[in-house]
Amino acid sequence: MMQKRFLLVFFALAGLLLLVACGGGGNESGEAATEEAVGDPVRGEQLYKQTTIGSASAPGCITCHSLEEGVQLVGPSHAGVATRAETAVPGMSAEEFLRESIIDPDAHVAEGFTPGIMYPNYGNELSEQDINDLVAFLLTLK
Ligand code: HEC
Repeated sequence: MMQKRFLLVFFALAGLLLLVACGGGGNESGEAATEEAVGDPVRGEQLYKQTTIGSASAPGCITCHSLEEGVQLVGPSHAGVATRAETAVPGMSAEEFLRESIIDPDAHVAEGFTPGIMYPNYGNELSEQDINDLVAFLLTLK
């Protein structure tokens, strides 16, 4: 009897470890997936196109960024940004670069642009899921 229970606990733990090791690739894993949740590009596109976003109703992405090639608003056009992001910073993946560009916009300033113009507080005002979704959307802009 005792042994059976031990086995159950053992398998539960092993299962959890496996989930953690896989970086929460599956969404059905519920709470175990929070740390590196997979972004939803469809929701990300909706967020991107809102005129205000986040807990403090900050200006939305689309108020400063165009999705059309060559159309520069306040910030660079995001047409092809996923492709540019791949080589933007040596040693950084496109995903890492895009995430950092949202959370810490002045970490790497796009060529020809001035630091301090992109809204700086998204890292505090957007949820982790919002940021994951935005990054997932930007990654589709090849
Ligand atoms: C107030 C205007 C403004 C808003 C709002 C804004 N950005 Fe930006 N963004 C900029 C400017 C200016 C730059 C270029 C300077 C820099 O790299 O920090 C930039 C750069 C970026 C870059 C790097 C782009 C590249 O082409 O290398 C990304 C990615 C980005 N923004 C994503 C976002 C997302 C996602 C949002 C919405 C959550 C957003 N931005 C909202 C102005 C803005």
